Amino acid sequence: MGKQRVLSGVQPTGNLHLGNYLGAIRNWVEGQSQYDNFFCVVDLHAITVPHNPATLATDTYTIAALYLACGIDLEHSTIFVQSHISAHSELTWLLNCITPINWLQDMIQFKEKAIKQGENVSTGLLDYPVLMAADILLYDADQVPVGEDQKQHLELTRDIAARFNHMFGQDEEEILKIPEPMIRTEGARIMSLTDGTRKMSKSDPSELSRINLLDPPEAITKKIKRCKTDSVRGLELGNPERPECNNLLMLYGILSGKTKDEVTAECQDMGWGKFKPLLTETTIEALKPIQEQYKAVMDDRTYLDSVLKDGREKAEAVANATLKRVKTALGYSTPL
Ligand code: TYM
Repeated sequence: MGKQRVLSGVQPTGNLHLGNYLGAIRNWVEGQSQYDNFFCVVDLHAITVPHNPATLATDTYTIAALYLACGIDLEHSTIFVQSHISAHSELTWLLNCITPINWLQDMIQFKEKAIKQGENVSTGLLDYPVLMAADILLYDADQVPVGEDQKQHLELTRDIAARFNHMFGQDEEEILKIPEPMIRTEGARIMSLTDGTRKMSKSDPSELSRINLLDPPEAITKKIKRCKTDSVRGLELGNPERPECNNLLMLYGILSGKTKDEVTAECQDMGWGKFKPLLTETTIEALKPIQEQYKAVMDDRTYLDSVLKDGREKAEAVANATLKRVKTALGYSTPL
C-alpha cells in the first residue's frame, strides 16, 4: 500500500507566528517522511478580506521560503502556490453549487471575521470554506494537519465530499475522498500574549500579541517583557483560571522540548521576573535556525522559483485528474 496523502496550507497574510508554526507547520515537518505531502500557500484565501496588491506576491514567496526554512523536505513534500493552479477556483465553483448556504453562514470564523469587518463583507469570505474544501479534495488527502481553529472547516469539507458522493456517485462510489483532520493536542491552540483567553492571530491589531517567526531577538525580548501575566505566586500548567500562565509555560515546554512534568518541576517556584528571561532565551534559540535558513533561501531566488515551478507541475497533475473525475460525475462533456 502506498503512503497516505497529506495536504495543508497557510495564508500569506503577513508573517507567520508561533501559533501557525506550533499548531501546523511543525507537525507537517515532524510527520512528513511517513506521508506523501502537499503544502500550499493559499493566496486565493488571502483576498477574502481587504488585502494589499503591492505585497501579495512577496508575502506568498515569504511563506513558501518559510516552509523550506522550517524543514519541509522536498524528498517527501511538494510545495506550491494555490493561485498557480486554476483547478482550485474551478472546483470551488462546482462545489458551491451543491453546498447549502446555511452551512456557510454557521461557520464560526465567518461570523467572527464578518463582525470585525462591519459592512464590507465579501461573498468570498462566506465562500472561504468551500475554497478550502476544494484545496483538500483536489488532492485526495487522507489527513489534514491543522490547528484547532480549522476543525469546523474540516468537518464542513467532509460534509461537502459526502454530499457530493451521495448525489453523484454511482452505487456509493467515492468520487471525492473524505479526509481526516490531524490535530495535535499540544500546540493546537496557542494563545495571544496580551490576552490568554484569545488565540494568537495574524489579524490582531496589536503586534505585541504575537511572536512572528522572523522577529529579531530584540522584538521577542520586548514582546515577552510586556506580555500579560498574573499576580498569583508560583507558576503552574493546566490551571484554567490562569490562561496566561498556562499558555506561557506551554510555549516554554514545546520550544525547549521539555515535558509537562519537567516544566512544572523547573518553574513552579519561579516568579515572572525569572521565567520571562528564560522563555525569551528559549524562544530566540528555537527560532534562530529557522531565521538563518530563511535568509539562505531568500538569497537564492532562482532556487525558490524552481521549487515552486516543480511543485506546480506535480500538484497540477493530481488536481486536474480529480477535477476531471468531478466534472464527469456532474455530467460535463470532455472538450475535444
Ligand atoms: P491560517 O493561515 O489562518 O493558519 C495556518 C495554520 O495555523 C494554524 N493556527 C494556529 N494553531 C495554533 N494556535 C494558533 N493560535 C493558530 N493560529 C493559526 C491554523 O489552524 C492553520 O492550520 N483556512 C486555513 C488555510 C487553508 C487550509 C487549506 C488549511 C486553506 N486551505 C487546506 C488546510 C487545508 C487558514 O486560514 O489558516
